[in-house]
Amino acid sequence: MTVADRLSPVIVGCMRLLDWGLDARGLRDWIKAAVELGAHSFDHADIYGDYRVEAAFGEALALESALRDRLTIIGKCGIVLTSASRPDVAVKHYDLSRDHILRRVEGTLRDLRTDRLDLLLLHRPDPLLRPEEIAEAFARLKADGKVLAFGVSNFTPAQARYLSAALDEPLVANQVNISLENTGALFDGTLDTCRELGMVPMAWSPLGGGGIVGNDPRFADLRTALRRVGEAHGGRAPDQVALAWLMAHPAGIRPVVGTGRLDRLAGAMGAAGLRLSRQDWYTLLQAAAGREVP
Ligand SMILES: NC(=O)c1ccc[n+]([C@@H]2O[C@H](COP(=O)([O-])OP(=O)(O)OC[C@H]3O[C@@H](n4cnc5c(N)ncnc54)[C@H](OP(=O)(O)O)[C@@H]3O)[C@@H](O)[C@H]2O)c1
Repeated sequence: MTVADRLSPVIVGCMRLLDWGLDARGLRDWIKAAVELGAHSFDHADIYGDYRVEAAFGEALALESALRDRLTIIGKCGIVLTSASRPDVAVKHYDLSRDHILRRVEGTLRDLRTDRLDLLLLHRPDPLLRPEEIAEAFARLKADGKVLAFGVSNFTPAQARYLSAALDEPLVANQVNISLENTGALFDGTLDTCRELGMVPMAWSPLGGGGIVGNDPRFADLRTALRRVGEAHGGRAPDQVALAWLMAHPAGIRPVVGTGRLDRLAGAMGAAGLRLSRQDWYTLLQAAAGREVP
């Protein structure tokens, strides 16, 4: 089974993990409960929580060594932040050089207290990237067993196609911002390129960071539509409907959800079983856009 085949239908995003208010034991129990729900894929990046999330997750994993093998862990590198912990960084920038990729994966493995990442994504396209350096880094990481598969994030169709053609390793995923708040990827070739290259599209901020299901007045009409469609499907919650809308796309979108609440994660997993009709789907698209399709 490939790494892409092993991804759970909903991926747990760890960007906000430090806000969940859990100590190491609490987080270990949270991770185990997520796995029990079937959400066994966890999305990380070295920069999350000002470079502190990976270490917090690693501390929880270290409490139960058998847990690691039940997880699919996604890591990301390539963004460099200014931070009190990085006094040498004067300006936020991107770095997809070979040495940076290799160095950051070492840091991630150390902090997560694991010997391997299931999937490494290049977090953002770096205008200064040299594909041959990325190819070298990927080959080394693969040969050393430190990363099992590779992908990208926030890459345009042209960037993904260009890099893919220059690598020996296949790119198995592109993690992009897709939601009813931001439908651009449906129409700009991003999802088509995923299908063309065999990449799994992952949707980050699939609920618009909570905005589309919270109180943001910009999404009032969309929330009404989500509620109506949910009622027509036996009382499904608006967030479930919004995730089912993503999952209905034939490219096989995996939402990367950011909730710290297990009840909401259970609801998200339940979205996989919700089958929207074509008219439901377009009703939601229309409510999101504020107009009918041309
Ligand atoms: N590749 C990239 O460039 C990139 C960029 C951004 C994010 N990401 C990934 O995507 C993941 C998810 O991003 P995200 O956190 O913005 O995703 P999201 O799922 O769209 O938003 C999560 C936020 O929405 C809230 N929320 C969820 N359901 C809600 C509901 N029914 N009502 C009100 N609020 C609700 C959550 O609060 P509760 O915790 O209280 O439920 C949480 O604060 C991140 O963790 C990260 O892994 C990747």
